[in-house]
Amino acid sequence: MSQITTATLTTDDAGIARAGRLLRDGALVAFPTETVYGLGGDATNPDAVAAIFTAKGRPQTNPLIVHVDSIDAARAIAEFPPAAERLAAAFWPGPLTMVLPLLADHGLAAGVTAGLNTVAIRMPGGDLARRIIAAAGVPVAAPSANPSGRISPTDATHVIAGLSGRIAAVVDGGPCPLGVESTIVGVTPDPVLLRPGALPAEAIAACLGALADTPAPTGQITAPGQLASHYAPKASLRLDVITPDPGEVLLGFGPVIAPFHLSESGDLHEAAANLFRLLHALDAEGAARIAVSPIPDVGIGRAINDRLKRAAAPRP
Ligand code: TXA
Ligand code: MG
Repeated sequence: MSQITTATLTTDDAGIARAGRLLRDGALVAFPTETVYGLGGDATNPDAVAAIFTAKGRPQTNPLIVHVDSIDAARAIAEFPPAAERLAAAFWPGPLTMVLPLLADHGLAAGVTAGLNTVAIRMPGGDLARRIIAAAGVPVAAPSANPSGRISPTDATHVIAGLSGRIAAVVDGGPCPLGVESTIVGVTPDPVLLRPGALPAEAIAACLGALADTPAPTGQITAPGQLASHYAPKASLRLDVITPDPGEVLLGFGPVIAPFHLSESGDLHEAAANLFRLLHALDAEGAARIAVSPIPDVGIGRAINDRLKRAAAPRP
């Protein structure tokens, strides 16, 4: 594809207005959400949607999340079964994506849903993201703003490193506070956890009374996390390590001596916010073998372990 100059936009009114105009004109604009940076394009514009897949090198079979700035905008696209109403009331705006039955007159470009009769929708928690969507005046399709299969970006510098020359602009809102992607729940209509994420599955289960776990992979994509390798740094990873082997760089959690630390105090939220930043930093440093301390598999720790397992999986 031909190279373009990627502009860096500010988070003031002028920057937001320019981001909105670019999106409306069919250009691609990366922007921060409370989880990770998204690579935005007008979800109703087939050319913009096709350009998202091209810029990321993403397989066309892997559908996109549609970002909206209100529940009403979501209702214009998808059906809301009772469990979806409960979850939206409890957790939107916030780091929850729901996969819902698509309405007949949804108005989305076909590529967004990869031909499925369901659609992933999320109302991001960060004000900035919702203001950009409002300025665009259209639903915004936005996968994480990284080349397909690589580490998700939690800072504008990560977006530039991965996608510069392929997108019109990035809005630089600094580091993302949560640092791992949204939790994805299928509600079609029975609730099932499709991807652990920044919203703890325990909170969703408490809201609904119960939450079925991710079904075993069938070879068919229901969420990308079910593919083996994803979120991959260039280095190899070994998990649940107490004592690193010679030649391994320890990515520590809790009271261990390590050159890189997810959280010295053992705080899972701090660890999530640091995870992708440190994997990017280890990549930049040319680390070949990374060992990672054990991380408790509760709350946002489930999302951290999920991403680490995929990062450690054999590459295709
Ligand atoms: O936090 C997030 O969710 C970030 C920010 C930018 O919002 N976005 C994000 O998008 O993580 P992405 O594309 O990297 O991961 C979302 C995944 C897709 O890869 C896709 O497999 C799954 O959501 N998905 C989308 N539509 C789906 C559908 N109809 N059914 C099942 N899974 C779907
Ligand atoms: Mg992604």
